[in-house]
Amino acid sequence: MEGKTKIVDRFDDYVILNFKDDITAGDGEKHNVLSGKGEICAEITAITMKYLNSRGIYTQFLDFERPNKIKAVSLEMFPLEVVVRLKKAGSFIRRYGGEEGEEFKEPLVEFFIKDDEKHDPMVCKNHLVLFGICSEKQVDEMIDAAKKTASELKKFFGNLGFDLWDMKFEYGVDKDGKICLGDEISPDTLRLRKTAEIFDKDVYRKDLGDPLEKYREVLEACRSLNLL
Ligand code: C5P
Repeated sequence: MEGKTKIVDRFDDYVILNFKDDITAGDGEKHNVLSGKGEICAEITAITMKYLNSRGIYTQFLDFERPNKIKAVSLEMFPLEVVVRLKKAGSFIRRYGGEEGEEFKEPLVEFFIKDDEKHDPMVCKNHLVLFGICSEKQVDEMIDAAKKTASELKKFFGNLGFDLWDMKFEYGVDKDGKICLGDEISPDTLRLRKTAEIFDKDVYRKDLGDPLEKYREVLEACRSLNLL
């Protein structure tokens, strides 16, 4: 199975996620290939997911295979993006207004159906259950897991000097029916800031320079923890 930024190879007991050098924005309308990006995002995903596992959060991560592969638990993925927002940015501001970086009183969890043609429509629990995408219990479990994971990642990146504004998670179900965090955790899927400095895909979305320069700084900070 090949997606915009990853190729997934399925084996009997596990999957291998191959991170590609592609970067996309605007539902795939903007697309470039940045040599070395796959390895950077794979390693940041490996480090953050290994950390989350150690904090009792169930992720798909099993092993990092240099330079750009992750061995992972085989999951049946929900066709969903689960966004957790700690500070206002991006599509939240476009939809509802507000100032960049304004903090929410509580983390905000939003669900989007993955569908580029429909521009990833936002949905609520009713849609998810009515469309047969997941059960009410599964929605509640994802909300709970997403909030806990956001809180752990905020601490993780906070200790490295980065402010985590928002993030996107993807969940799936393992062979025992347990909900598990899958896909990727990287500057492609997180908004990471140091005051005005941007360390995430907004550098690419807004043409603010070489995104990989910033992604590499995030990787170096993550490596300093020696978790792999
Ligand atoms: O664009 P928006 O403000 O909704 O993005 C919220 C968070 O989810 C950002 O960290 C963004 O990078 C991430 N995201 C993503 N993949 C998408 C849409 C958003 O990783 N397709």
